[in-house]
Parts: sequence; C-alpha cells; structure tokens
Amino acid sequence: MSKVIVMDHPLIQHKIGIMREKTTSTKEFRNLVAEVAMLICYEATRELPLSEKEIETPLVRTTVKEIAGKKLCIVPILRAGLHMADGILNLIPSAKVGHIGMYRNEETLEPVEYFCKLPQDAAEREIFVVDPMLATGGSSIAAIRRLKDRDIKHIHFLCLIAAPEGVQALQEAHPDVDIFIGAMDERLNEHGYILPGLGDAGDRIYGTK
Ligand code: PRP
Ligand code: URA
Repeated sequence: MSKVIVMDHPLIQHKIGIMREKTTSTKEFRNLVAEVAMLICYEATRELPLSEKEIETPLVRTTVKEIAGKKLCIVPILRAGLHMADGILNLIPSAKVGHIGMYRNEETLEPVEYFCKLPQDAAEREIFVVDPMLATGGSSIAAIRRLKDRDIKHIHFLCLIAAPEGVQALQEAHPDVDIFIGAMDERLNEHGYILPGLGDAGDRIYGTK
C-alpha cells in the first residue's frame, strides 16, 4: 500500500491557515499556493536517489552528491494545479511539465477531461501530479489513470488540502501512488466541498467568482 504523508511543518500549517481565510486576496492566495507547493515538494523529493561525482572547489578536489537516475516531470491538473507547478519549478527548474485539464461536473461531481499533453519521455521520468484539492478523489484518480494508460509508472501525488474520503478513494484506486498532503481536513459537505477547506481553489487563484 502507498504512503500517505501529512505535513506537520509549522511554515506549511501557517501558510495554509492564511489561505483558508476568506478575506485573503487573490494575489496573496496565488503566491501562497506556489510557496506551499514548494515546501511540500521539498518533502516529497526526500527519497530521490543520489550519486557521487568528483569536482574541484576553488581550493581542492572533492566528492559531491547529485540527484541520480530518473529525471522529473511535474503534471498539474488544470486549472488549479498550474500554480503549484510554478512553485515547484522554482526548486526543480529542469523538470519537464505535462498538463491534464480536468473539471468536476458540479451535479455529479464526476471528473471531465478536456486536455492532456505530456512529455514524450514521461514514462522514463519520476512523475509528480499536483492539484491543491483532493476532495472526492475523482479528478486525481482519473488523471493518474490517464498517466498509467501511457505506461507511466513512478507517480506521486501532491495536494495542499485533502478530505479523508478522497485519500481513501485515491489509495484504493492507485495503491502504488504515494500521497503528500499539506493538511488533512475533516470531511466533504453535501456539494463535495472540503470542510473546513478553503473554498474553490481555482476560483480563488484566478478570481473567477
Ligand atoms: C477542483 C480541484 C480538483 C478537484 C478536486 O477542480 O482543483 O481538481 O476540484 O475535486 P475531486 O477530488 O472531487 O475530483 P475544479 O473541478 O473546481 O476545476 P478548476 O481547477 O478548473 O477550478
Ligand atoms: N475543489 C475545490 O476547489 N475545493 C473543494 O473544497 C473541493 C473541490
């Protein structure tokens, strides 16, 4: 079974607290999405393998470590995941980026895919799927299924806020995918929104409501 890692770092908790406030501006909210994504990515990349190489400092020859093996690819689920990807690219500027466009049908809560573009060599990369909200799990489950249809295997999922229902559904659907979560909330309401949550992440990032 996959790992579920809920962040306990004070900086992450503090920043997510600001994001939850309804008075937080679009500009500040957007910046916080990128910042918290970067902090979660720091933890999610903890187990990347390292190799050694010889270099020369201005004074002596020495051995340093570098990230070995697989290259990375970030896959934001549009729209809201896009700003998480921007934050993570600050840490890993050489990562490639794939995009999956997905929205929830507001009545059925079923995910509807409208776009998918992935790097050609995605199957050879370590993949980080990012979306701020894991609610019912429908969107992330469908996005990851899409990746697996393309023979992509090494997948991690990063979100800012999760509902227990979504985590359980995602784990059951994709038991091989580790899940990194900024904050675990209480439950979903009758409209599939996370409580206490932060509202509609896409609308708050782009100011569309
Ligand atoms: C939000 C969010 C996730 C999805 C989570 O996207 O960014 O993709 O809902 O819900 P789920 O776990 O129940 O599938 P939304 O459908 O609002 O689209 P948007 O990003 O374009 O606003
Ligand atoms: N999507 C969001 O943006 N927010 C929620 O609370 C649930 C799904």
